Amino acid sequence: MIYSKIAGTGRYLPERILTNAELEKIVETSDEWIRTRTGVERRHVAAEDETTSSLCIEAAKSAMEAADVKSEDIDLIVIGTTTPDLIFPNIATLVQQALDIHGCPAFSIEAACTGFIYALSTVDKFIRAGESQCALVIGAEIITKLVDWNDRSTCVLFGDGAGAVIVKPSAEPGILSTHLGADGKYKELLYYPVGASKDLVAAGTDAVGIIMRGNEVFKVAVKTLGAVAQQALKANNMDKSELDWLIPHQANLRIIQATAKRLKLPLEKVIITVQDHGNTSAASVPMALDVGIRDGRIKRGQLILMEAFGGGFTWGSVLMRY
Ligand code: UT7
Repeated sequence: MIYSKIAGTGRYLPERILTNAELEKIVETSDEWIRTRTGVERRHVAAEDETTSSLCIEAAKSAMEAADVKSEDIDLIVIGTTTPDLIFPNIATLVQQALDIHGCPAFSIEAACTGFIYALSTVDKFIRAGESQCALVIGAEIITKLVDWNDRSTCVLFGDGAGAVIVKPSAEPGILSTHLGADGKYKELLYYPVGASKDLVAAGTDAVGIIMRGNEVFKVAVKTLGAVAQQALKANNMDKSELDWLIPHQANLRIIQATAKRLKLPLEKVIITVQDHGNTSAASVPMALDVGIRDGRIKRGQLILMEAFGGGFTWGSVLMRY
């Protein structure tokens, strides 16, 4: 049996840190409101000349170094993002070119905040089918360029970043299961109103931003993230007590706390980065994984459940032995 196994991880966060105190000067809000309602204390914001691919390239280099992998070893690149540099060519080809990799398949997957989980699940299938020996998988986002900085209900939530992993086949587990889901009936609760084939030109310089009915999203997120975790454990005949680490999408500390409570997991077993990163959409889970690995909390052989939820709605999980 072939398993997909994470051989190395990396992350990149833009240098500029935007604090809650600075946001108080931009919109009518307070550090206290942001911290108590969301758990966010600061977030990284990309510079004008940074693009999502430039974040990806740095995260990829760091994952490649951790896995001791060279450009010529990589035979597949998949990137989960909703904020690619260009409409085409796809962002994975831009990263491919920058890393001097030529000829292998390179594509992106758009599933909002679940983008990395969708990408990793897809790569797991390539590896199990014997079609990849060394894949680069990234979740990355410059979501702050989509934000309407006049809208206090959304602009305080988001941040930019990229998280990367190198995945290789292994006789030892490895990714035990992946589960993906989506339900387009929730489109109106969370979306961006402009795209390549809809109103892109008409939008011009008018303020366009993320449209979110936060409270309703919150409720479905808590319910879904709890159910997704149970689904993964049940499919593997495992009990929640066997989990070493939960790495949930980092949208809101209260959602993370509620999910942990449903699973009866102490918060000490949850990797939490929302205070430092904000909601980085597809980048949140791979960056949190990298944080946990690099600070020594996550160790080889441990059982890890990663899960995400986002616009669509989309959702998904990856249960793995690191
Ligand atoms: O990543 C994809 C998934 N996304 C999520 O999971 C996000 C889910 N939703 C949330 O995280 C929360 O719903 C929010 C953090 C977005 C909002 O928290 P909430 O506790 O649901 O607040 P609310 O939307 O019900 O608003 C409560 C009040 C409102 O005022 P009134 O109507 O009670 O007078 C808002 O106008 O808070 C007000 N408010 C703010 N006040 C200060 C909204 N944004 C702000 C703000 N500062 N930034």
